[in-house]
Amino acid sequence: VAPLKVGIAGLGTVGAEVVRLIETQARVLAGRSGRGIRVVAVTARSKAKKRGIDLRGVEWVRDPLALATHPGIDCFVELMGGAGDPALSAVEAALNAGKSVVTANKALLAKHGIKLAKAAEKHGGALNFEAAVGAAIPVIKTLREGLAGTGINRVYGILNGTCNYILTRMEQEGLSFAECLKDAQRLGYAEANPSFDVDGHDTAQKLAILASLAFGTKVAQGAVYVEGISSIAPEDLRAAADLGYRVKLLGVAVRTAKGIEQRVHPTMVPKTSSIAQVMGVTNAVTIDGEGIPPITLVGPGAGGAATASAVVADIADVARGIRANPFGRPIAHLRDTRKAPMERH
Ligand code: NDP
Ligand code: HSE
Repeated sequence: VAPLKVGIAGLGTVGAEVVRLIETQARVLAGRSGRGIRVVAVTARSKAKKRGIDLRGVEWVRDPLALATHPGIDCFVELMGGAGDPALSAVEAALNAGKSVVTANKALLAKHGIKLAKAAEKHGGALNFEAAVGAAIPVIKTLREGLAGTGINRVYGILNGTCNYILTRMEQEGLSFAECLKDAQRLGYAEANPSFDVDGHDTAQKLAILASLAFGTKVAQGAVYVEGISSIAPEDLRAAADLGYRVKLLGVAVRTAKGIEQRVHPTMVPKTSSIAQVMGVTNAVTIDGEGIPPITLVGPGAGGAATASAVVADIADVARGIRANPFGRPIAHLRDTRKAPMERH
């Protein structure tokens, strides 16, 4: 069988690690996929930048759009970020050309996910985005496939590694917010614009994607109430600790009689609760399904290696010819999101 030919746009924290993983895990991937996976073309902003990856024999394409429609690739991997261009036009062009797309871009999916899923449906390519929520944690697959036969009442958790890392270090080491954020950026956890992390928008984007998969509704980032952590100081965390609590930035989506309630805000959780034990860059997602006890998935929520792990798994699915409905069901079956009036819990 011919190898799957992959084009990668974006060679930063995640993209460079994806190139590395495809090379180091080539035999394992070929065994699991039944065919080889080859990176044949790439692009990024700067061709000259040193990236510590071997790109010998890989074509450098001048821009993301040209790569997306390159006749020599079967699968376009978008790892640039951002809800607008060039990510949007490139992903759209790849799907319209009948190619499969793998992306980690939650901002793009939260804003244009339905439009892109329609293009995938129409032209037959896959649209895979496991890395967009919870990095290495297979939460998209769990909701989309593992729990396909289960009604979901609630999905919630810690969905931003940067915020949990900052809150953990502020509490444990008494460091300032700014110092912790700087370290999160250095470690490759934060978004290019870190206000997306600390103001709660990244969590809201991920929550909107999970809510769509959980409740069969259209992704609606605008329906999420958002509050971030940027005004929290070490003294606030100490005051919470004195009362027996920890502060966590939670994303919560609940089905109610009045619609879907989606909210993101710092929350005091009892120190003895399992969610309070989730520290550092770790994420945790709990899914309350009908008739079964809650399922909690915990794992690394950001960082190059953790994210690349999910991106490469998505590419392997494309190589194996697996093509799931991006949001769990045909687009025509997704309902509009009816926003429930928010109640404080
Ligand atoms: P980086 O900023 O490290 O890398 C972005 C890459 O995209 C760089 O190689 C950059 O080029 C390239 N790029 C940016 N703009 C353009 C453009 N206009 N044309 C061509 N190339 C461009 O980001 P990350 O790797 O951290 O993130 C990539 C995606 O993965 C984002 O959507 C992010 O939200 C998502 N993600 C990231 C996680 C993480 O932990 N970092 C976790 C989960 C998802 P150059 O290098 O030349 O500047
Ligand atoms: N900036 C994001 C985070 C990356 O910190 O969670 C993973 O999506």
